[in-house]
Amino acid sequence: MPPIRIAPSVLPADFARLGDECAALERAGVDRIQFDVMDGRFVPNLTFGPDVIASVRSVVSVPFEAHLMIEEPDHLIPRFVEAGCQIIIVHVETCTHLHRTLASIRDLGAAPAVALNPHTPLEMVASVVDLLDMLLVMTVNPGFGGQAYITTMEPKIDAARRLLDRADHWIDLEVDGGISAATVEGAAEAGANVLISGSALYRHPGGLGEATGELRKLASQAWQRRIAAQS
Ligand code: DX5
Repeated sequence: MPPIRIAPSVLPADFARLGDECAALERAGVDRIQFDVMDGRFVPNLTFGPDVIASVRSVVSVPFEAHLMIEEPDHLIPRFVEAGCQIIIVHVETCTHLHRTLASIRDLGAAPAVALNPHTPLEMVASVVDLLDMLLVMTVNPGFGGQAYITTMEPKIDAARRLLDRADHWIDLEVDGGISAATVEGAAEAGANVLISGSALYRHPGGLGEATGELRKLASQAWQRRIAAQS
């Protein structure tokens, strides 16, 4: 049974109180916090850069991951590591020399991860699996929170888990987009163990803590079904 990690996206948070929002997420029991970095070019939205992330780094102790939805990320990666991000996620669609980019993230002391848009085939990362600590299979088209989960990504999630299982080390499989109590079981039973959730967490009537615990419980139960089905 892999570790089940619940990681909120801060996209729905009140940016006027981002530090307080991160503290509330940590109190809610999240395993890490994801910052959705968008440049208005790779995705049709614009969010924040390393200075904003650095401003809240000292408020909490949970790891930060930077989801870089930006063109040509190489020159900015060191800034996100300096800002306090332990995990750096680049999109395969934005990296001309992905092998070199992932190695450079590791050289900077951060955990390398790569993301695949819904249309991007898994084969695009098959040659760099050995460099990864995590693979992100997007379950929405990147750019905005609150979109519908793309159920047809589940066979890709399952194939990704099987690909990663052939590596000589554990590699987390993350999904991001439309993850809620209604969709988390499908993603986890397909093989995802890191669940990114934004709107579903913030909209949960029971609050962040209850929402986090519910996602973790449902994902754990789904993984137990996956393991039972494979035994
Ligand atoms: C898309 C973003 C969103 C966000 C999660 O670019 O990456 O997927 O993190 O948003 P929800 O959970 O609201 O779909």
